[in-house]
Amino acid sequence: MDNRPTLPPEIARRRTFAIIAHPDAGKTTLTEKFLLFGGAIQMAGQVRAKGEARRTRSDFMQMEKDRGISVSASAMSFDFDSYRFNLVDTPGHSDFSEDTYRTLTAVDAAIMVIDGAKGVESQTQKLFEVCRMRDLPILTFCNKMDREARDTFDIIDEIQENLAIDVTPASWPIGHGRDFLGCYDMIHDRLELMSRADRNIVGESVRLNGLDDPKLADHIPAAMLEKLREDIEMARELLPKFDQQAISEGTLSPIWFGSAINSFGVQELMRGMADYGPQPQPLKTDARQIDPAEKKVTGFVFKVQANMDPKHRDRVAFLRLASGHFKRGMKLLHVRAGKPMSVSNPVLFLASDRELTEEAWAGDIIGIPNHGQLRIGDTLTEGEAIRFSGIPSFAPELLQTCRANDPLKSKHLEKALMQFAEEGAAKVFKPAIGSGFIVGVVGALQFEVLASRIEQEYGLPVRFEPSQFTSARWLAGDKTAVDKVVNTNKQHIATDHDGDLVFLTRLQWDIDRIERDNDGVTLTATKEMM
Ligand code: G4P
Repeated sequence: MDNRPTLPPEIARRRTFAIIAHPDAGKTTLTEKFLLFGGAIQMAGQVRAKGEARRTRSDFMQMEKDRGISVSASAMSFDFDSYRFNLVDTPGHSDFSEDTYRTLTAVDAAIMVIDGAKGVESQTQKLFEVCRMRDLPILTFCNKMDREARDTFDIIDEIQENLAIDVTPASWPIGHGRDFLGCYDMIHDRLELMSRADRNIVGESVRLNGLDDPKLADHIPAAMLEKLREDIEMARELLPKFDQQAISEGTLSPIWFGSAINSFGVQELMRGMADYGPQPQPLKTDARQIDPAEKKVTGFVFKVQANMDPKHRDRVAFLRLASGHFKRGMKLLHVRAGKPMSVSNPVLFLASDRELTEEAWAGDIIGIPNHGQLRIGDTLTEGEAIRFSGIPSFAPELLQTCRANDPLKSKHLEKALMQFAEEGAAKVFKPAIGSGFIVGVVGALQFEVLASRIEQEYGLPVRFEPSQFTSARWLAGDKTAVDKVVNTNKQHIATDHDGDLVFLTRLQWDIDRIERDNDGVTLTATKEMM
């Protein structure tokens, strides 16, 4: 498939991807059906949470306890046919956050879910743009075809226009809403019929010899059949053709139609990911590109999650293996710290539980429990001092001060906030003058999520209040010049959780002024997390 040297079979069979969607399009339902067909859960309903409440992280945690199943597991591994799928979860709430961006640095492909009635929505667009920045191959699933949906050509046109990507139909829906019968598989010339009787099984698949096969008439009413033939003829003439290379390069997206809740179209989509989705891809470091086939193990941390297990106050660092064959107990070099680290208890996230893993290959995501040594952006190798690049930290767009309701608990609050900062859930700035903390996030909902997590995980009621500042910029450049800025602008200066200097202000004018008046000083909106 790829024009690269053949990978060892264990690596070549891996597919590491994320699902992106606007809230409510069906991401959770689809994830659950993937796990069902991947043999990771026995019954639908184990993962899905009910209603709107599930959107915040604290509800996720509560649900997790209720169900005894890790719905917030950030990576899930399961097998499909002879393939190993690693599905990396993007955060569940609707605010766009850095977390989402970083998650997408750890995958080789994405599945974009859209609602057949609503088409491309705001969040789909934002997430898509992040995928585009990395040229990720994107497979599209148009969901909820069992409800009233838009005309198929309209949906495809909308994606092509709004997202500036070519779309080729892998399947074609036959009717929609109550008349939805199933799909015509355009790749294999096959009719797939939906069974409404049992939502956890897939209806019959009828093998055909193209669109003129007389058997079609046994399953589809004449009027619908005529429309199907016309549509497909038109689609084949007018729409982009299936092209593996364009899919791999991220310029063409194959689209499947279906209904996740009825398990319809899901296996075809999984088949599509297996057949047309990318193998683990080479990844860039500051020194050179790392090929997954390289013998030595390398990987980077893209996410840190704390308090996953209420019984153990541990943190789990999620490592994307970029190359090699990892074995439990391996000693790896923690490049930032310059020290070896024994990885003796790595976990692989199977849907129902986290399990100790004996081995893993390039493309896999493993969890490494630790006590804070590993941070987002860290690289582990078998000795080479390289660093994976491209995991940025953005300046937050919203700043608020955070105080504990009980003023005597400010040390506790500091501990909690630092932990969230290390997790990457927020930016925490300690002002050079005065007390309290300034917390920065990218989306407003994150303040609420943080407040409820601090209360739930640390028993600490807190309040967020408007801050006098609206922008944060990292200070970089010549040390003497930076010191001068710090000394003459003390009321604007703070440090982040790494101890790096930050300039806080409410005026763009201030930022421009500092740069203009201080040669050798730059104020940056991103810093690489290394
Ligand atoms: P999300 O994670 O992308 O936010 O979406 P989720 O899977 O939670 O699905 C959102 C809603 O859409 C759910 O309904 C779900 O049952 C429904 N849904 C998902 N796939 C399909 C489909 O193929 N057809 C139809 N008709 N509905 C679908 P809900 O009312 O929010 O939850 P619930 O009451 O069903 O649990």
